Amino acid sequence: MSSNSAPQHEQMSQFKTAQGQLVAAGLNMTEISQLLARPAFYVYERAIIDRQVANFRQHIPARIKLHYAVKANPYWPVVQHLKPLVDGFDVASQKEMLLALQSGMPVADISFAGPGKGDAELLSAIITGVTLNVESLGELQRVCQLGSQTSKTPQVALRVNPGFELKSSGMKMAGGAKPFGIDEELVLQTLANIADMPVKLRGFHIYCGSQNLKPESLIEAHQHTFALAAKLVAACPYRPEMINLGGGFGIPYFAGERRLNLAPVGESLQGLLAQYHNELANIELVIELGRYLVAEAGLYACQVVDKKQSRGTTYLVCNGGLHHHLANSGNFGQVIRKNYPVTIANRISQEATELVTIVGPLCTPLDILADRMTLPTADVGDWVVVYQSGAYGPTASPQDFLGHPNVAEILL
Ligand SMILES: Cc1ncc(COP(=O)(O)O)c(C=O)c1O
Repeated sequence: MSSNSAPQHEQMSQFKTAQGQLVAAGLNMTEISQLLARPAFYVYERAIIDRQVANFRQHIPARIKLHYAVKANPYWPVVQHLKPLVDGFDVASQKEMLLALQSGMPVADISFAGPGKGDAELLSAIITGVTLNVESLGELQRVCQLGSQTSKTPQVALRVNPGFELKSSGMKMAGGAKPFGIDEELVLQTLANIADMPVKLRGFHIYCGSQNLKPESLIEAHQHTFALAAKLVAACPYRPEMINLGGGFGIPYFAGERRLNLAPVGESLQGLLAQYHNELANIELVIELGRYLVAEAGLYACQVVDKKQSRGTTYLVCNGGLHHHLANSGNFGQVIRKNYPVTIANRISQEATELVTIVGPLCTPLDILADRMTLPTADVGDWVVVYQSGAYGPTASPQDFLGHPNVAEILL
């Protein structure tokens, strides 16, 4: 089991400090809590979101559009903030689709992916003209049937489950048997009949995985993805308008992890664009990212309400925990629990001298904010802050579990 000290974590953070305290947009945690009149909250900083978008634009060729995967953080002010900064939104439910439409994003730049879409979801996408990333042949059939009940032609992209995978990903979503997408070989068969189906095939969605910090893995996946894209375009009875090349750009969560270096990824994409210039000419190419754009821009903050000793372990017991931040507890995709970067925000410039385990108020041993971490000596009333919390926060957490108050959010 690891014991992580604060300085490593501070190196990961893009947030600033002022007068010995961690601040977001110039406000310390006490001030943000007063502003919200709430004791536990997520705060997102616009400037960091902007920096992440700028980093993408700096390194990734301009020919490739940037879409935001709303699932990473659907907080309405964040969605609104990102609207003019990105070229499209990718949504995973009807609710997210409504957010995307209400933001004013042009409908042609909204796509809807995810297995198990219900008829009502499919219908609303068909009616509004949102592109449906079709996940199975059964779904394609239902789209055709539902479309025939409307005056609209369904706009679809076939999501392809390719033969290859994105190596070293936190979550692999392609290669082998998968609930996501239509197996590559079936897509190629389907293309033979697509011209006779009552849909407009806009293009293809090739999404392989997420949370990848290795440029070489992304580069290898891009090489396969471009080759597959060229094969699909050649097999398509008419020229598709767009190809979604996937995403998967990760962010560092754990001690020892380094920021993804986008420079080699961008250089490789530049080479692939040149290599496939003719095959992919006049086709819009998209990369869709969630956490890369927002995760580093978010802090989760809660307060210590009790400090206790138990047989040699010092516990800080907080008013927030797993119900607000499931991912930080290690129960959202981690195989072995590792500590997220955590600090005591109002003692950030003090030396880390005390070994503590930080827990939340839930009656379960899973409710851990930090397991055996060396931090500045903290007491009741101090602010425990989890960095890298801007993605998969409140909406990925069981907020109603045990009936404690829900968490507040603010974009500053
Ligand atoms: C289809 C699709 N797009 C985008 C994402 C966003 O991933 P991330 O937040 O890691 O960028 C996911 C994550 O599950 C996904 O399944």
